[in-house]
Amino acid sequence: MAEFKILITSQKGGVGKSTVSANLAAYLCRQGKKVALLDFDLHGSSSKWLEGAPPIGIDIHHEPLPLEIGGTRPVNVAKQKLRRLCYTNDIVISDLTWSDSMTAELLFEYDLVIVPTSVSEIELNATSDFLERFRWVFESTIHTPPKLLLSPTRVHSDQMSDTALFKQHFPFRLILAPAILEGQSARQMYKRGYLCDLTDACGVSFNEFGSAVLEAIAMMTQDKTKIENDSNSRMKALLKLAAQYESSLKSVFNSTRL
Ligand SMILES: Nc1ncnc2c1ncn2[C@@H]1O[C@H](COP(=O)(O)OP(=O)(O)O)[C@@H](O)[C@H]1O
Ligand SMILES: [Mg+2]
Repeated sequence: MAEFKILITSQKGGVGKSTVSANLAAYLCRQGKKVALLDFDLHGSSSKWLEGAPPIGIDIHHEPLPLEIGGTRPVNVAKQKLRRLCYTNDIVISDLTWSDSMTAELLFEYDLVIVPTSVSEIELNATSDFLERFRWVFESTIHTPPKLLLSPTRVHSDQMSDTALFKQHFPFRLILAPAILEGQSARQMYKRGYLCDLTDACGVSFNEFGSAVLEAIAMMTQDKTKIENDSNSRMKALLKLAAQYESSLKSVFNSTRL
């Protein structure tokens, strides 16, 4: 499988980035993928989660970024660490609280950016403001933009069907992930186990989220291979043309010699 890079980010703390990062890594690992977790956060909640839970073969890295240095340094460090892990894994998942010391350039490194948000009016406004700042990235026609997946988390069952609220806040192109439900069991799994193993409503909702991400990965990797194949066949056609050109040159050359 081609390497696939996922960033889980938002400016806010407490929305579920680390929970989603650690547990998406576990979900994808259980689906047979070779997965690395690259935890850029100082607190290291997602890496600590995976280090504490029974090992299932995830490649775990805690690499806090040198945000205090500023300039291009944090982004360069992040890119370097990310690329290194891509050599040995199918999927790399990064957990990052977005800070203004980061530049949008980092987003272009990823195939998929997942932004967890809770669904209260105030949170949706904050998430919408955050995404509006980077809208140009996701709509870029110059570079290949990452796909954007908005992921409602810590959702209470009475908040489930409010998709009108989303449309009103996010008038631009994004994919809406199946909601991850709020559940006491999710908190209890910290450093102990994985949300994908829970059989309650929270676990079921998490598995639906995981399977949607898996499907998105499959679709996007197909697209990637298609682009590569297309450029391969374009290259083959060019080589064929060049060969024809060469042989016609040869025959011209031969005939002039004769
Ligand atoms: N689906 C959920 N149900 C219940 N509690 C959750 C859920 N997701 C996250 N939490 C809790 O919310 C808090 C913040 O989650 P965390 O993943 O650390 O967010 P972030 O990384 O965005 O700061 C933690 O106490 C965590 O246990
Ligand atoms: Mg966190």
